[in-house]
Amino acid sequence: MRIIRTKDYRDMSRKAANVISAQVILKPTSVLGLATGTTPIGTYEQLAEWNHKGDCDFSQVSTYNLDEYRGLTHEDPQSYHYFMRQNFFDKINIDLANTHVPDGANPNADEACSEYDRIVREAGYPDLQLLGIGRNGHIGFNEPDDHFSKGTHCVDLTESTIQANSRLFDNADDVPRQAYTMGVQTIMYARSILILASGPEKAQAVYDMCFGPVTPQCPASILQLHTSCTVIADEAALALCPEA
Ligand code: PGA
Repeated sequence: MRIIRTKDYRDMSRKAANVISAQVILKPTSVLGLATGTTPIGTYEQLAEWNHKGDCDFSQVSTYNLDEYRGLTHEDPQSYHYFMRQNFFDKINIDLANTHVPDGANPNADEACSEYDRIVREAGYPDLQLLGIGRNGHIGFNEPDDHFSKGTHCVDLTESTIQANSRLFDNADDVPRQAYTMGVQTIMYARSILILASGPEKAQAVYDMCFGPVTPQCPASILQLHTSCTVIADEAALALCPEA
């Protein structure tokens, strides 16, 4: 793993945007795997600014998001599809037909998940997969478990994830209890991975991801086995990794 230490959130966001921008400049038809959450918002803002200035063209890019809440339609303001439009897609020159998020509105989990696996596979898997990390080391909604997941699947969210995500809802009872998420194997198929972390509440997860054993108890730890994984994290998130 390549670890890049940044001063703060803003510095992390700019460096991450630089990596993604370079990918898109080098390969205008890039397939990007994208993530939701608070962490990538600054990265998306920076990319939208460069897009606006004509420095980063998304017209031929296609995107595949990691996950979606089960039971929410694309129009639901709490859905990840809506989040992506608000924070990124509506601010750049991407063709919305080339953006993909698992279909949370399909109550048939097996169908929704196998369909998503099919389209990600047919796209040839991401050239670059952007990730955040949960406080418990999750990636996507792949929570700590006794095994690593494979393809897209339906998960029950853990209490800690429901609590962490409730800040974006009126109250914790409104947070959906299930989600469709790309599996760890699919994430590992990406040709390169960029994982971001900011803030002291991520410090333990970042340490475990980079220096702990490779274990499904910390799903992000499998990224140690990826041939091209870059971690961009700020001082606070790297507080337990002084040697990095
Ligand atoms: P956050 O979430 O960016 O909102 O902290 C990251 C994650 O849970 O993957």
